[in-house]
Amino acid sequence: DKGGHKHFMAKEIAEQPTVIAEALGHYLSKSDEIRLPDPAIDFSQVERITMVACGTAFLACLTAKYWFEQIARLPVEVDVASEFRYREPPIPGKSVALFVSQSGETADTLAALRYCDGKADKIVSVVNVPESSIARESDLALPIHAGVEIGVASTKAFTCQLTVLFLLALKAATDRGELSEEARQDHLAQLRRLPALMSEALEQNDAVRETARKLANARDVLFLGRGPLYPLAHEGALKLKEISYIHAEAYASGELKHGPIALIDEEVPVVVMAPRDTLFDKTVSNMQEVMARKGKVILISDRGGLSEASEGVWDTVVMPDVSDAVAPILYALPAQLLAYHTAVAKGTDVDQPRNLAKSVTVE
Ligand code: F6R
Repeated sequence: DKGGHKHFMAKEIAEQPTVIAEALGHYLSKSDEIRLPDPAIDFSQVERITMVACGTAFLACLTAKYWFEQIARLPVEVDVASEFRYREPPIPGKSVALFVSQSGETADTLAALRYCDGKADKIVSVVNVPESSIARESDLALPIHAGVEIGVASTKAFTCQLTVLFLLALKAATDRGELSEEARQDHLAQLRRLPALMSEALEQNDAVRETARKLANARDVLFLGRGPLYPLAHEGALKLKEISYIHAEAYASGELKHGPIALIDEEVPVVVMAPRDTLFDKTVSNMQEVMARKGKVILISDRGGLSEASEGVWDTVVMPDVSDAVAPILYALPAQLLAYHTAVAKGTDVDQPRNLAKSVTVE
């Protein structure tokens, strides 16, 4: 049942305010305690987190690295499962190995988990299917409560993964004495506002559809972001290529001038994800380098950011104000909508893109 939507993907994008509220309800008590399922986990003596996943789940891990490092001051290693498992990396004893998987059945991720079993101190997983192999073989499985996801391109599972990982980073920061009560309250207040902010972001649906019409004619699209928006740039590019079949790549804004800027001309749209955060001015100057080479910029930012920097851009998408840390969860929505509407404009099979399967149980 698509609930009145044309595609499961559209339904699942629209469900995000509800499922995020649901996930928060499972993990946050009324008095703002973070409640994890048993057995209890304590990050105070942990020396490293090793995060492993595939595809979109891997990009959730890359985003979470910023949170674990910046908020919990915990060293993080992230890798795609198919590389990690064959690299046979050393795993220090005082480490947590963390596996993220919507299906909980991805073959490479499961093999990476089995590799870490007996080496890492704890095996933790973040899954959507609690009965899955990855959940069963973990010491601690954290369900994301996204509900069944049918569209092959992951949307609501991604933002629920991010939400659970963010809560886990806050829990780690608290265990390690790295988080003041005030900072903790600020982060939780932002999370509690997230469903409402997401609803506001989804009001941009019609505007994004117009933008996507223009993107549908592109052969290549670049995505730029900095800080926690850099992994999200990768997620925007992945979504676009998997359902619209347009070639898309992501770069850290600051890396552009080290090579990829050679690609820019008037044929290449560049999607810039830039909330007005502490790195905003740097990203804007990278964006201006793109425009100076006739690149067509689509700037996704908040009102303040757009009023400061939208001169000369091709198109804009406005987002509500949000904290730096929570921004990647919110900015996932315009990235998903952009891919969705571009695919619809091109007439591709949105829910069943060619060559892809929902659960990848072969290596
Ligand atoms: C992209 C997508 C895939 C999956 C990847 C991992 O939209 O859906 O990249 O994220 O195959 O799948 P899970 O999370 O089931 O391990």
